[in-house]
Amino acid sequence: MSSIAIVPGTFDPITNGHIDIIKRAQRIFDSVIVAVAVNSEKNPMFNFTERIEITKEVIKSEKELKNVEVEGVKGLLVDFAHSKNAKVIVRGLRAVSDFEYELQMAFMNRRLNDEVEMIYMMPYIKYSFLSSSIVKDVFLNGGDISQFVSDIVIERMKKKFFNKGVLVK
Ligand code: COA
Repeated sequence: MSSIAIVPGTFDPITNGHIDIIKRAQRIFDSVIVAVAVNSEKNPMFNFTERIEITKEVIKSEKELKNVEVEGVKGLLVDFAHSKNAKVIVRGLRAVSDFEYELQMAFMNRRLNDEVEMIYMMPYIKYSFLSSSIVKDVFLNGGDISQFVSDIVIERMKKKFFNKGVLVK
């Protein structure tokens, strides 16, 4: 039976750090589903449809990524995993500060469905400080984010903020 892993996140927007984790998951599992989900605690820059579109475009542009699909998920992540016959959810663990949040989610996911395992991977060190929020902050203050996200993301961010009349360098 082929192994399927889910890599979930809000992806607002997808960063090179996320791509790194997806590549690592791809080395271990036969196929990977990138699940663009809703985190009710977050007020994203891009809406659900936009986040799916951007994530799909970025994944498609990464030539090394094969057998990776992108899907939007509404509802519980473990239910989505179950519906896809995936037994594993992969998350990146950048620093100790991620641990408490991830532990809480892992325990809750286990309580909701004990058949789905959470697996954590350490990103490449150069991405260990990266987050979507910090990328948005640098961008909105006119900084260069080209080392951290795909050009596709930069174009979408420029479009969004030009449209809103915000000046972007
Ligand atoms: N490299 C770079 N950044 C990374 C990273 C990596 N490897 N791994 C995580 N991050 C960053 C993200 O950029 C993001 O930064 P931000 O907080 O500044 O936006 C943050 O770490 C984590 O966000 P992300 O990876 O996008 O996911 P999330 O923590 O928002 O995801 C869900 C949470 C979507 C998985 C969770 O809310 C969920 O499962 N929702 C579905 C509903 C559900 O089942 N709820 C019950 C859960 S117990």
